[in-house]
Amino acid sequence: MRIFLAGATGAMGKQLVPRLVEAGHEVVGMTRSNSKRAALEDLGATAVVADALNADQVGDAVAKARPEVIIHQLTAISSFDIRNFDRSFALTNRLRSEGTDHLLAAGRAVGVGRFVAQSYAAWPYARTGGPIKTEEDPLDPTPARNMRESMRAIRHLEAAVTGADWTEGIVLRYGGFYGPGTSMSRGGEQFEMIRKRKFPVVGDGAGVWSFVHIADAADATVAAVARGRRGIYNIVDDDPAPVADWLPALADKLGAPKTWRVPKVVGRLFAGEVGVVMMTDIRGASNAKANRELGWEPRHSSWREGFAS
Ligand SMILES: NC(=O)c1ccc[n+]([C@@H]2O[C@H](COP(=O)([O-])OP(=O)(O)OC[C@H]3O[C@@H](n4cnc5c(N)ncnc54)[C@H](OP(=O)(O)O)[C@@H]3O)[C@@H](O)[C@H]2O)c1
Repeated sequence: MRIFLAGATGAMGKQLVPRLVEAGHEVVGMTRSNSKRAALEDLGATAVVADALNADQVGDAVAKARPEVIIHQLTAISSFDIRNFDRSFALTNRLRSEGTDHLLAAGRAVGVGRFVAQSYAAWPYARTGGPIKTEEDPLDPTPARNMRESMRAIRHLEAAVTGADWTEGIVLRYGGFYGPGTSMSRGGEQFEMIRKRKFPVVGDGAGVWSFVHIADAADATVAAVARGRRGIYNIVDDDPAPVADWLPALADKLGAPKTWRVPKVVGRLFAGEVGVVMMTDIRGASNAKANRELGWEPRHSSWREGFAS
């Protein structure tokens, strides 16, 4: 199929382009930078330059590409401050709201049969009930104050994509990425914080995190292009785990000193309300639907062996 990939040069895009090409698809990859064209073409895509926040540029690029499928992997999370969560996500939130609308409008104009978009599986779930959530479970009606804009953008993207009745609108709620090109990789920001003991367990560390190796997430995305049906899929590994389990285990793998613990009140001082929620209260996600309907299983079934590799 002919696929238009928005976000083709990012951590996910770099994994996705070669897999789509290998699966026999023709890929047109979007970037803002002329300087990234060559790298995209080396991966096997045709490069197109456009700004996702400019409706005319997106409309022109999609009209010229005439794709059968659009994949939306646009984010902009390069500088992240947990105390200013919404501020850190401001551009990503625009990409998830305006960016989604521009891509949908452009896709509708050329009649794409399938639209696959990136969402997130962890912090958006409601912080009530059991520790592991399915796609049927509600999103958090009362997110921490500093993440309300980010939640609004997630809700907008998911409603717009699954509500587009003229196409097969598919939302992939990925777990926390780790692996090449992500901040959870050798030399990456989060691994370095853990190595330097700047990432303590807060309170009881009962917040449940779902991870996914970025290569597995890319495999799931290729499967969604082939077999996904309108709706939402959690794309996470088989081993959602509380912070109190995964953080000390990861610190050990990184050869870092023993993870320290701080009470919630101290955690709040350093990481704000969002940091405390992430550490103590968020829920994990189940990948049963993606296993069943996409025929996808992560090769790294647990972060335990995934972090080691
Ligand atoms: N589920 C998760 O855990 C998750 C999800 C997303 C990101 N992350 C992590 O966040 C970190 C940083 O990711 P990132 O999102 O900043 O960067 P990234 O991985 O470089 O991806 C951003 C992509 O979006 C494109 N893009 C951004 N704004 C655009 C615009 N206005 N117009 C057109 N394209 C635009 C970029 O293209 P150009 O720059 O080429 O224009 C690039 O292809 C990584 O560690 C990543 O793993 C994690």
